[in-house]
Amino acid sequence: MTRKSKLILYIISFILFIISFIGMIYYSYKTFYIEIEVESPEEYDHHFVLIGEEIDNAYWHLIEKGANQAAKEHRVFLEYLAPEKANNDQVLKIIDRMISVKVDGIITQGVEEEQFIDLVKKGSEREIPIITIDADIKNSERKAYVGSDNYYAGQIVGEAVMKQTVGEQFVGIIAGRLEAKNQQQRIAGFKDVIESTDRIHIVEITESNITQVGAAQATYSLLKRHPSLTALVGLSTLDGIGIVEGLQEIAPNKEMFITAFDTLPDTLSFIHEGEIDITIAQHPEAMGYESVETLIELQSNDMLNKVFFTEIKVINKENIDAYLNGVLR
Ligand code: BGC
Repeated sequence: MTRKSKLILYIISFILFIISFIGMIYYSYKTFYIEIEVESPEEYDHHFVLIGEEIDNAYWHLIEKGANQAAKEHRVFLEYLAPEKANNDQVLKIIDRMISVKVDGIITQGVEEEQFIDLVKKGSEREIPIITIDADIKNSERKAYVGSDNYYAGQIVGEAVMKQTVGEQFVGIIAGRLEAKNQQQRIAGFKDVIESTDRIHIVEITESNITQVGAAQATYSLLKRHPSLTALVGLSTLDGIGIVEGLQEIAPNKEMFITAFDTLPDTLSFIHEGEIDITIAQHPEAMGYESVETLIELQSNDMLNKVFFTEIKVINKENIDAYLNGVLR
């Protein structure tokens, strides 16, 4: 090979090397770089945090939606945080962290733990208003509660079972999490109402871990242990749907009175089809909206102990169309 052709070969190899190097840089940038829109809290008047029970939960996304709506209207920078899977300790850790970073206000599901009470006190001492949403802890120094009256919600489930069934009833209750305050209050309301009759018996109370599969498994095991059950009461959003699924597995032809909570599309379809007898409609979007408005109010007026009960309604086959048309909202 002549010197000249060697030189040409070197130049070509060098150009090819440069082209592949640039290509490599470009494609790795495209593959690994995720564009994050960084919003700066400085552009807003307030920085609030909404802390939910579980991050990817349809019910909590509705709360988040309502809260975002109010945040937009009031120049609030709103962060939504929650554990990956429902877990009290993690909620407490998030609250603690948010107090440390000195946000302007915290909206959180109430957690029944000593540590929660201490954290709310700590927030109050540092002038960070903390309000509860969806589940209340009355004996804490939380400035307000926004959400359903959960004891009353349990009572109306009890009344529905009393009114809409005949003869002796053997009830299995599936709560979201037994350690959740709102589930305890729903159970208490239910128990207090059915006490007035000796026709209705609670056979077992269990939990779904607020998942559909958990509710389906709970239904399956409940019916395995107590084939005589005649009614199943679901107390959190995915329980009704899970109950129908579990029942289809173990006893598809069994007559069962089923009650649910909330109004996810699948729950409403089951009401239409007559698989679920009633569901309790809560107003998670209104909870989110009102909670942000309440925190705004708290920035200038340090009120204490405001309780804002959002509406609840019983939805059944007779009124579901009115509900869907907005007449019953
Ligand atoms: C309850 C929430 C719970 C949700 C679970 C709702 O009925 O009010 O506390 O997080 O169910 O999906």
